[in-house]
Amino acid sequence: MKKKALYPGSFDPITYGHLDIIKRASEIFDELTIAIVDNPDKHPLFSIQERKELIMTVIKADNVRIDSFQGLLVQYATDNNFQTIIRGLRAVSDFDYEFQMSLTNRRLGENIDTIFFMTDEKYSYLSSSIVKQVCRYGGDISSFVPDDVAIELKEKLK
Ligand code: PNS
Repeated sequence: MKKKALYPGSFDPITYGHLDIIKRASEIFDELTIAIVDNPDKHPLFSIQERKELIMTVIKADNVRIDSFQGLLVQYATDNNFQTIIRGLRAVSDFDYEFQMSLTNRRLGENIDTIFFMTDEKYSYLSSSIVKQVCRYGGDISSFVPDDVAIELKEKLK
């Protein structure tokens, strides 16, 4: 049976930190699905369609799928037969939230486990919010996101 995993997130936009996790997870699992959360309360900069297109542009692996979901992650995982959720951990400060989220998800869906990938230390400070902030004020984001993402981000924040 195929080992498949789900990598959920906002990806607003995708960064080199996400891409590192995607590369490593897609080498371990037969199939990895990136699931973009569709939550307007988060006031994302990019629409779901734009985020999907950006991810498609920068993903190289052919065992990676892209999808989006609304509502509870556990519901999406159950409906689509996922038992494994992938999350990246950057710093200790991520731990509380991720721990709470993984325990909640296991309570709601008892067959669902979260596997954490420690970030590559190169990206331990990186987040989509920081990238947007740096870009908004004209800083150099070339070491944070691929060129295609940087171009779209600059355009969006013009
Ligand atoms: O990239 P992010 O914003 O850190 O991703 C957070 C995400 C999408 C994984 C999380 O907010 C989520 O799972 N949202 C769906 C709603 C849900 O299931 N909440 C209960 C889990 S605590």
